[in-house]
Amino acid sequence: MTQKTLAEMAVEVLTTADGREKTALSHKHAATWFAAREAGTPLEIGHAVPPMRPSRPEKPELLSPRDVPRRRPGSPQGRIALLHAVAHIELNAVDLHWDIIARFTDEPMPIGFYDDWVKSADEESKHFNLICDCLEAMDSFYGALPAHAGMWQAAEDTAGDFLGRLAVVPMVLEARGLDVTPGMIQIFKQAKEKQTLEALEIIYAEEVGHVAYGSKWFHFLCGRNNFDPKDVFHDLVRRYFHSALKPPFNEEKRAEAGLPPDFYWPLAEETKTKTRVR
Ligand SMILES: [Fe+2]
Ligand SMILES: [Fe+2]
Repeated sequence: MTQKTLAEMAVEVLTTADGREKTALSHKHAATWFAAREAGTPLEIGHAVPPMRPSRPEKPELLSPRDVPRRRPGSPQGRIALLHAVAHIELNAVDLHWDIIARFTDEPMPIGFYDDWVKSADEESKHFNLICDCLEAMDSFYGALPAHAGMWQAAEDTAGDFLGRLAVVPMVLEARGLDVTPGMIQIFKQAKEKQTLEALEIIYAEEVGHVAYGSKWFHFLCGRNNFDPKDVFHDLVRRYFHSALKPPFNEEKRAEAGLPPDFYWPLAEETKTKTRVR
């Protein structure tokens, strides 16, 4: 059997629908990639055509954000709804990381780029399974509730723009995760739900890395093209990100991830002005 290329393995993950199966395959492919790296015989990156939208299970039903019921985290049902939304984000994140691997192979990148996103995809797979385990321990499961339909929009919008993808996905959306996770940790601490608390702490620690990889490779590509990273970041976020950048920001973790305040604050200020005008 000939060894598949990394791009082919990415497409295999993207075209697997079931969450547990998708993440098991993601983990298996990541292990194959890193074993080959360690042996000094890295897999070929290759080329493959990722689907415009990844395969997804029949459930959860995907609804527009307006129609997804509000979560009140004070009750066990509210906490289940919150975790269900997190599981959905994690499953999307698995696909987002394999998608960036397969989608932009026309731009030759250092092998470290692939190491970073394969590692991230593997971590997201673990996050999804940890949260699914928590949901199941609370007598629920991923698919029991409706979920957000718009989650893949950023990927579709930036399917033809590598720098745009890096700006919007790791440097805006995943950075937002760093802002909101401490509040979620607090909720589960108060509810004394230890299993979830431990899962969220792992997620919080590892997500800093994903934002850092985004910032690293965004700066790398800007350097290669002799672009000013901050100006380009502002232009791309304005072009591709259609909702608001809202404070409070987790400035400490954002800094740890290589995201300085002059990247995101001016965009947040613009949002404030726009809202005021309306
Ligand atoms: Fe994650
Ligand atoms: Fe992530």
